[in-house]
Amino acid sequence: MSSKVEVTRPSLPPLDEYIEYLKIIWETGIMTHNGPLVQKLEYEISNYLNEKNVICVSSGTSALQLAIRALNLTGEVITTPFTYIATANIISWENCKPVFVDIDPHSWNIDPDKIEEKITNKTSAILPVHVFSAPCDVDRIHTIASKNNVKVIYDAAHAFGVNIAGKSILRFGNISAVSFHATKLFNTAEGGACITDDNILTERIRRIRFFGFDRKNNIVDCGMNAKMTEISAGLGLANLKYLNQVKQNRKRKYELYISILNDIPFITFQKYKTDEYNYSYMPVVFESEQILLKIQDKLKANNIFARRYFYPSLNKLSIFHPQDLLPVSERISRRILCLPLYDTLPVEEIERICQFITEV
Ligand SMILES: Cc1ncc(COP(=O)(O)O)c(C=O)c1O
Repeated sequence: MSSKVEVTRPSLPPLDEYIEYLKIIWETGIMTHNGPLVQKLEYEISNYLNEKNVICVSSGTSALQLAIRALNLTGEVITTPFTYIATANIISWENCKPVFVDIDPHSWNIDPDKIEEKITNKTSAILPVHVFSAPCDVDRIHTIASKNNVKVIYDAAHAFGVNIAGKSILRFGNISAVSFHATKLFNTAEGGACITDDNILTERIRRIRFFGFDRKNNIVDCGMNAKMTEISAGLGLANLKYLNQVKQNRKRKYELYISILNDIPFITFQKYKTDEYNYSYMPVVFESEQILLKIQDKLKANNIFARRYFYPSLNKLSIFHPQDLLPVSERISRRILCLPLYDTLPVEEIERICQFITEV
């Protein structure tokens, strides 16, 4: 049997380039604590994004958690049910209630037309997700949030490297929280960052990332440990150099999938603008869950592991509100499968995967 094909594999820089960063750690003896590599990574990312405030943290989940804390959110937070569990979990973890709003059937992002009907006097924020990197309708969301005096945090876990009208997508909302997990377009193994225009919020996030210490070493806030390590930052610095190359490579592979699968009538794809996507996932929606399961089994029998992102629709989980009906999200969740996509995936594997799908 041919070798195992996972749904994703991390993008890794040439090992000798990473070793150069490890040598710095061995020389300085600094492994964490806002060390020189974390500071350099923050500087490089802010140049890349053209955004002055980048605060690197230990994960995308802690980036969301710090964002919720920094904005003092309470009560209800409006979000999407079509996302990874981390989004809704961290809202609950921070003692707020996730209130789910159904998604748009084409972009699969929160449907702006349905947000206002869920806003109450307990709503403190909207927390949309740029799902699979396709930008949310940031202008409509901004208008709704301003009119109703609520904050916006974007879960931009998938959306590093995406621009909209020449601006990084991470510049929208009060704070964007991005993930640098190993499976993401840009990775530091584990890691993430908060991005914001607001200098006061930046200082607060920096403090609560580090137990509540301010720049003068006074404890002035209730904080936690969400620091990024130097080991992770070094990997990030080595990876950042290859980001555009990795993105272009994934784009070519994504487009190859589309060119082969496009003619199959029982498959649909996410709608996005060509230059506003980072090709970190290869999601396809089948006509029925039955077809999806057949295809998943067929691929598995051939050592290919496609994954059901995001299933089930989060409103269906017993820890949330299984009584809520969110038909678009539920319908898409049941029928969506992410096919393998990563920069070292051979083109022949993509052709083989498409052949199996066509056969089913
Ligand atoms: C939409 C979304 N939000 C948040 C996260 C959490 O990020 P991390 O795994 O870096 O904590 C993920 C992780 O994949 C995600 O997909």
